[in-house]
Amino acid sequence: MIIAIDGPAASGKGTLARRLAAHYGLPHLDTGLLYRAVGAACLAAGGLGDATAAARIAHDLDLTSLDADALRTAEVGEAASVVAAVPEVRAALLDLQRRFAAQPGGAVLDGRDIGTVICPDAGAKLFVTATSEVRAERRFKELSGRGDAVTYDEVLADIRKRDARDSHRAAAPLVQAPDSALLDTSTLGIAEAFAAALALVEARRAGT
Ligand code: CDP
Repeated sequence: MIIAIDGPAASGKGTLARRLAAHYGLPHLDTGLLYRAVGAACLAAGGLGDATAAARIAHDLDLTSLDADALRTAEVGEAASVVAAVPEVRAALLDLQRRFAAQPGGAVLDGRDIGTVICPDAGAKLFVTATSEVRAERRFKELSGRGDAVTYDEVLADIRKRDARDSHRAAAPLVQAPDSALLDTSTLGIAEAFAAALALVEARRAGT
């Protein structure tokens, strides 16, 4: 069973993906981390302007060496969104994601284009969203909780800018797959959102 979870920044898709993976005993890939790793490596190499260098970095990416904690900063999120708009970067990361999804037994993947491009035949597709203010509040708590010096207003502006870039790019834009189930988590806590996500996945599995 492949579960594809997409949605905008800080919508809660990562938490739901991890929980669904644990529930079903499936491996989980946070595909945002791949783009974050490419963005961080480009920043370290001097900038985001060189698409050929970014594609080379994406091509050589080693999944086993990703430092998730170091990649979850606001600066790296912004860099990820810039390199994610480069078609060659997306092409370089395609096989790795499809191979992960094709593991025997299945997998859970979360990102922006899982249900539309990476796994169009996934057995269950969720599109997780929430208002930008609620998402900014969650991300602000997460970032300030780990000691990053950010304000709520900065986080909100960053989320709006990134959503706009992710939704309007030509290559695999953030868009709800027509056959995905919409889950708005604006008024839901983690336990409620997980219960709702599980019910939607179970309905898909039952073919209802
Ligand atoms: O955690 P958050 O939702 O803030 O972001 P993320 O999932 O770590 O993704 C960071 C950036 O990578 C996004 O803003 C997208 O531009 C890009 N991304 C993408 O284009 N396609 C994916 N499948 C996953 C992430």
